[in-house]
Amino acid sequence: MNDLDPNAYVEDRSPGTGRLRPRAAFTTDLPTIALDGDWRFRLAAGLDDLTEDFATPHFDDTGWDLLAVPSCWQMTGLPGEPRYGAPAYTNIRYPFPVDPPRVPRRNPTGEYRRAFDVPAGFPSASAVLRFEGVDSAFAVWLNGIRLGDGKGSRLTTEFDVAAQLRPGRNVLAVRVHQWSSGSYLEDQDMWWLSGIFRSVSVVIRGVEDFFVRAAYDHTTGRGTLAVDVTAPDRVSLSVPELGIVAADPAGPYVVEGVEPWSDENPRLYAGELVSEAGERVPLRIGFRTVAVVDGVLTVNGRPISLRGVNRHEWHPLTGRTLTEDTMLADVLLMKQHNINAVRTSHYPPDRRFLDLCDEHGLWVFCEGDLETHGFEPGGWRRNPSDDPDWREAYLDRAARLVERDKNHPSVIVWSLGNESGTGANLAAAADWIRRRDDTRLIHYEGDWASCAYVDLYSRMYIGVDELAAVGRGQEAPTADPADDAHRRALPAVLCEYGHAMGNGPGGLTDYQLVIEAHPRLAGGFIWEWIDHGILRSTDEDDARSFYAYGGDFGEEVHDGNFVADGLLFPDRTPSPGLVEFKKVIEPVRISIDPAHRRISVRNLHHVRDTGYLDFRWTMEDGGESVGSGALSVPATAPGATTEVEWPADVRAALDSARKNRSGHEVWLTVSAVLAADETWAGAGHEIAWGQAQVAPATAPQPFTPLPAVARDGYLALGAARFDARSGALLQFGDLEVAGPLLDIWRAPIDNDVRGSGGPLADRWRAAGLHRMRHEILGVEPDGSGLTVTARLAPAGASFGLGVVYRWTGCDEPDTGLARLRLETAVTPDGPWTVPLPRLGIAMSLPGTDAEVEWFGPGPGEAYRDSRAAARVGRYRSTVSAMQTPYVRPQENGNRHRVRRARITTADRTLLITGDPVIDLTVRPWSTAALTAADHQHDLVRDGRIHLHLDHAHHGLGSAACGPGPLAPDVLAAVPAVFSVEFSTGR
Ligand code: GAL
Repeated sequence: MNDLDPNAYVEDRSPGTGRLRPRAAFTTDLPTIALDGDWRFRLAAGLDDLTEDFATPHFDDTGWDLLAVPSCWQMTGLPGEPRYGAPAYTNIRYPFPVDPPRVPRRNPTGEYRRAFDVPAGFPSASAVLRFEGVDSAFAVWLNGIRLGDGKGSRLTTEFDVAAQLRPGRNVLAVRVHQWSSGSYLEDQDMWWLSGIFRSVSVVIRGVEDFFVRAAYDHTTGRGTLAVDVTAPDRVSLSVPELGIVAADPAGPYVVEGVEPWSDENPRLYAGELVSEAGERVPLRIGFRTVAVVDGVLTVNGRPISLRGVNRHEWHPLTGRTLTEDTMLADVLLMKQHNINAVRTSHYPPDRRFLDLCDEHGLWVFCEGDLETHGFEPGGWRRNPSDDPDWREAYLDRAARLVERDKNHPSVIVWSLGNESGTGANLAAAADWIRRRDDTRLIHYEGDWASCAYVDLYSRMYIGVDELAAVGRGQEAPTADPADDAHRRALPAVLCEYGHAMGNGPGGLTDYQLVIEAHPRLAGGFIWEWIDHGILRSTDEDDARSFYAYGGDFGEEVHDGNFVADGLLFPDRTPSPGLVEFKKVIEPVRISIDPAHRRISVRNLHHVRDTGYLDFRWTMEDGGESVGSGALSVPATAPGATTEVEWPADVRAALDSARKNRSGHEVWLTVSAVLAADETWAGAGHEIAWGQAQVAPATAPQPFTPLPAVARDGYLALGAARFDARSGALLQFGDLEVAGPLLDIWRAPIDNDVRGSGGPLADRWRAAGLHRMRHEILGVEPDGSGLTVTARLAPAGASFGLGVVYRWTGCDEPDTGLARLRLETAVTPDGPWTVPLPRLGIAMSLPGTDAEVEWFGPGPGEAYRDSRAAARVGRYRSTVSAMQTPYVRPQENGNRHRVRRARITTADRTLLITGDPVIDLTVRPWSTAALTAADHQHDLVRDGRIHLHLDHAHHGLGSAACGPGPLAPDVLAAVPAVFSVEFSTGR
C-alpha cells in the first residue's frame, strides 16, 4: 500500500474519503433522482484487470453487460448458473488468509457505469449522491471527477455532488471491490455477496439532519417532545394532533395524556418539519421511554418481555437485496406469529424495514455492521476490536448506525455488532453512542463476562439451567467481583437461542417457562428468522429446483447447510418451528379445568388488555364438532388472570356428548382471535388457544383371539398371513404388507449431525445404529396367536435389543372388520452407550401416495420436545403433504401421539389404532433414502408407502448450536412394551 496507489483505499483501514457526515434517513418533498435500474457492468478479475479510463464520461461501455442496481452480482443468472462469480458461504472463517488489512489481489471488482439526465431546474447546488448499501468497498466518479470512496457495506454513504452535477447528461462510474479491509469487519455468518445491493439516488440537501426525542412519563402520562434540527435555514415543527403548530422544533413540548408507542400499540403521531425555503419533512413520532429499573428492562414504566427473532435480510433469488414487499412480508409474518421483537442480525437493515417496525409494532435491537469472528480461531490475535489502527473504522460504523436510524421509536437498543471479541474500539464505540443518544440502551454479547460497555447482560445458546441461574442473578462468578456486581445489576437477554436449523428447535417451552419466571430475564431472540437457501434448478424448465447451501457453488472452504437455520423456509413458508414458537410465546394463556368446569385467561401483554380479542369455543367428539360458540370473557388487564365458568352452552354440549356415548375422546378448545382487523392481520386471526379433554374414550371392543394355523406353507391368523419361517407379516386382508419390524434409526436431523462435544449422529454411526441387523430367533404359533422372537444388533457389537412380537387376531363378523394386534416388547442387552434415535416399528405398503386421516394432535409435525402447537383433532392430509421440506433432508413429519389413523392408497385402506397412542410418520421413500439425500430433489418415490409407528423418538433439542434435549426428552435404551392394532375390511 502506498499513497500513490490509486487503489490504496481498498486495503487501508480508513472507512472512506470524501463522504458527508452521517445523518438520519428521512424522506422530504424535495426532488430526487432515482438511479436504480440497469447499469452497465463489467466484472474485473482483480486489481490487475481494471478498465483504465472507465470513469471518463465518454468511455464507450456499449459492449458491457447490463446489471440491475440494486442487486448482488453473484445472484445474477439464478436459478440457473450464476453469471458473475458465485455465492460463497462461510460461518466463522474468512474465505482468504487472515492478514489484516490485506486482502487477495485477485479481488473480483465490479465496474459500474450509469448515464442519467438531470432535468432543467434541478437544484444541483445542494445535490447529494446517496448509496444505501455497497458490498464491500467502492470508489465513485461523477463526470470523470473522483468523489471519494467508502466502506461499511450495510451503511449509507453520501457524497456532495454540488460541484460536479450538471443539467443534462451526467455519467456516474462506481468501482466495487468484493474484498477490502472492511471485509475483516464484516465476517457475519452468511453468504459472501457483493455489489451495489441497495438503492442509489441523487437527493437534495435542505434540512440536513434531525433527532426526534419523544419521551413518555408513565407516572404522569405526559409526553415530552424535542426535535434537534440541523438545517441551513429556520425550520418549524407541526404536530397538529398535539396542538403543536409551526413551533420551534427544539421545544421541549410537554404533552398531557399522550398515548405512548409500544409493540402492542404502535401509536405514531404524524408531524412535519417545514423549512423557511418550503421543504416539508414528514415525521412519525412515537413517545416512549426505555429504562432499566431495579435490574429489569422496562419501556414506559413496565417490564417488557422480548419474544424475538434474529433477522438477516434474505431472498432465495436476490440475496440481500429485498423489495419492500418482502420486508413487509417479514414484519407481517412476525406479528402473525406473536413475535414482538427483532434483532437486526448482524447489520442495520434496509431503512424501510424499520419504518415497518414503527408502523406495525416490533421492538428492535438495531445492530451495527460489525463482526470479526474469523479472528477467534487464531486466539483473537490481531483482532481489529483492540487495535488502535482500526479505531476510526469502529467509530465510523457506530456513528453511521446511530445517525441513520435514530428517529425510529421501534429501536430501543443499539447493538455494537456481533462476535467481535472485546477491546478498546468497542468500548470507544459504546462511549460515542452513549454520548450521542441517551434514550436507548447498548447491547453487545461478546462483552458478557465484564459487561464493561453495555447495559444488558447478553448470552447466546445457554441451556435452561444456566438461564435460570442468570434469572436468579446467580450466574457463575468471574475473576473480578466488581464485574460480577455490575453485571448482576443488569437485565439479561438471550440475543440468540433456539437454533432453528432443520428439524427443531426442541425445548422452546422450557426456555419460555424460565424466561417468564424471572423478572431479570427480558426474553430473547431465536436464531434465526429465515433459511438462507439459494434457489437453483437442475434443468432448464425448473422442474426440479432445490435450495442450495454452502459447498453447492464449489467453495474451497464452506460451512455447508449451517446457513439454513431459520424459522422460515427460504421461500418464507413457516416451518414447524415457527408454528411451535407462535404457540409457546402466545401473549394470552388459556387453560381449561374440566374438573371445575372453568376457563382461565391469563394476559401476558405489556400494555394491551384482552378487549381486542374474541373468544370462541368448540367441542369435538372424536374430532366431530358437537358444539361451538362465542365465549364471553371480560377484558383482562395486562398481567391479570380472569376465570370464567363454562357457560350453559358448553355444559350442554358436553352433557349431550356424554349421552351420545360415541366412545371417542371429547375435547374442548377455546381460542382467542382478533375481534377486528389490525394492520398486520385480519379479524378472526388466532392469537392463542387452549385445549382440554373433557371426556375420555371408552375401552376398545373386546378382542377374542383366534389361533394361528399353518396353511399352504404360511401361518394364518384371521385375515393375516405370515411367512412360516421368518414370522414376517406378508398380507393382511387384501393388503400386501412388508414388515413391521423393530426400527431404531432416524435420518439424522441437523441437531444430531452437529453438536459440541461430538455430534450424536457420529456416535450413533460409530455404534452401528444405522446398520442394525434383524435376526429371527423363533416363530411360535399357538392357540391364541403368534410369537416371533428376534434380536436387533449391528455387526461387531456386543449390545443389542431383544424383541418379542406378539401377534393376536380377531374377526368381527358384526362390523366385517379384521383386527390384528401387535405387542412389541423390547429388552436391551449389553453395554448401550448412546440414546436411541427412535423406537418403533417400520413397515411398508404398495403405493406412491396415500390419503391419511388421523385423530390425535396435529395438523403439523410434532416431537416430544416440540409439541405445544399440535392440538387434538381429526385431520386429513396426504403422504406427499406430510413431508416437511427441510433444506437438507432429514427426519421429519412425525404426527405425535396419534390415537387412530386411516391410510388409503389407490385401492386399499389400513386402519391403525394406538394403544392408546402411537407416533406416526408416513413417507414415499425409505429412511435410508432420506438419510442419503443432500437436497430435496435427491428424494425419489420408490413405489412404497413407508409407515413408521413409533413408541418414542429422541428429542430434537438445539444441539446444532446449543444444548441437546433435556433429560426427560432423551430416549434411553431401556425395556419398553408398546402395542398397535391394525384393522382392515369394509
Ligand atoms: C452465533 C452467531 C450467529 C450464527 C449462529 C449459528 O454464534 O452469532 O451469527 O452464526 O451462531 O447459526
